Amino acid sequence: MNPIQIHTKNPYEVRIQPGILQEAGTWIRKIKPAARLAVVTDSNVAPLYLRTLLHSLEQAGYRDIPSFTLPAGENTKSLESAGILYQLLSQRKISRDCCLIALGGGVIGDLTGFVASTYLRGIALIQIPTTLLAQVDSSVGGKTAVNLPAGKNLVGTFWQPSLVLCDPDTLSTLPADVFSDGIAEAVKCGMIRDAQLFDCLAQKDPRANLEEIISRCILVKRDVVEQDEQDTAERMLLNFGHTMGHAVENWMQYRQRHGQCVATGMVMIVQAQVAAGTLPQSVLDQLLAVCQKYRLPTCCDAPLDQLFQICRQDKKNTTNAIRAVLLRGIGDGYVQSFSFEQFQSFLQGGVAK
Ligand SMILES: NC(=O)c1ccc[n+]([C@@H]2O[C@H](COP(=O)([O-])OP(=O)(O)OC[C@H]3O[C@@H](n4cnc5c(N)ncnc54)[C@H](O)[C@@H]3O)[C@@H](O)[C@H]2O)c1
Ligand SMILES: [Zn+2]
Repeated sequence: MNPIQIHTKNPYEVRIQPGILQEAGTWIRKIKPAARLAVVTDSNVAPLYLRTLLHSLEQAGYRDIPSFTLPAGENTKSLESAGILYQLLSQRKISRDCCLIALGGGVIGDLTGFVASTYLRGIALIQIPTTLLAQVDSSVGGKTAVNLPAGKNLVGTFWQPSLVLCDPDTLSTLPADVFSDGIAEAVKCGMIRDAQLFDCLAQKDPRANLEEIISRCILVKRDVVEQDEQDTAERMLLNFGHTMGHAVENWMQYRQRHGQCVATGMVMIVQAQVAAGTLPQSVLDQLLAVCQKYRLPTCCDAPLDQLFQICRQDKKNTTNAIRAVLLRGIGDGYVQSFSFEQFQSFLQGGVAK
């Protein structure tokens, strides 16, 4: 299972191993022996893990490694930060044969990926994700992004990393709510493709099973992404719980974490399917139990019609159609198209029940 090979146009490996941060230099040397490196991280991660990474890179023979520490938080995922990084990279004479290392959560991963894909028309990228969400989701798949004042992820590219190193030990310092944010995405992977992963999350202590959870999530994402590198059809599956999750996130004005909103979005869909008779009550009960175990919310105060308004304005829903992800059972997701009106009455069925 480990390392996991991702067979996109430019194939790469994902290595999941406790303590791998201390060996990062050795692994990077194998794929980029001659490259000059630069590290991008944030103000929470730098004091925890930057020294270990730099030490490992120096031990592997790399010299003169600039590191750039940006303020922690979603606001850093901006064109302004990209501009600051472009300037710092050119000041430090980072050239085409250099490689950027993203050390941090999804914010640093998305921003560094975006900068790597555009600086000098594209330089190599290595992801060292340090949140559960980044390890199970954002570091694999090649989507990069920055936010605009008009909305999240409105500017971005597809740019695959050359290597992903996941060190589960780094998750020991994550605040509990940030950890369960990643769990919500793992639950999603279990629901759409991997019933055993769902059982593991439902029954076991996740902290004692991180390697298995991360590997299984990445395998689900890999299978979907390999079939659809440019995000057209199959990749939609990964959006389970996200159509309504994004609407909830927007309604809450981003005061609730993404994973928490996705949990609510997954429950809404499953509730509607139970009401429509296409899923048994037991699936809903199992989803609710797992959400409760990880203190993930399962409902929100927003009136459904307001959530639909937000859905209609979503940049992804340009026609009068919504492609929603439904389940045949746990581990078996599929995509179904609805008109807005159909989708609205489908979901209202779940709420009314
Ligand atoms: N590219 C994709 O496919 C994709 C997929 C899902 C989400 N995303 C993006 O990912 C971002 C969210 O990622 P995130 O939840 O990792 O957010 P994040 O990067 O903001 O990290 C969350 C918080 O945890 C801190 N942190 C990171 N690692 C830590 C560690 N090991 N110990 C202690 N604190 C640590 C960070 O400083 C931050 O305060 C969003 O911008 C979202 O749009 C991208
Ligand atoms: Zn998500």
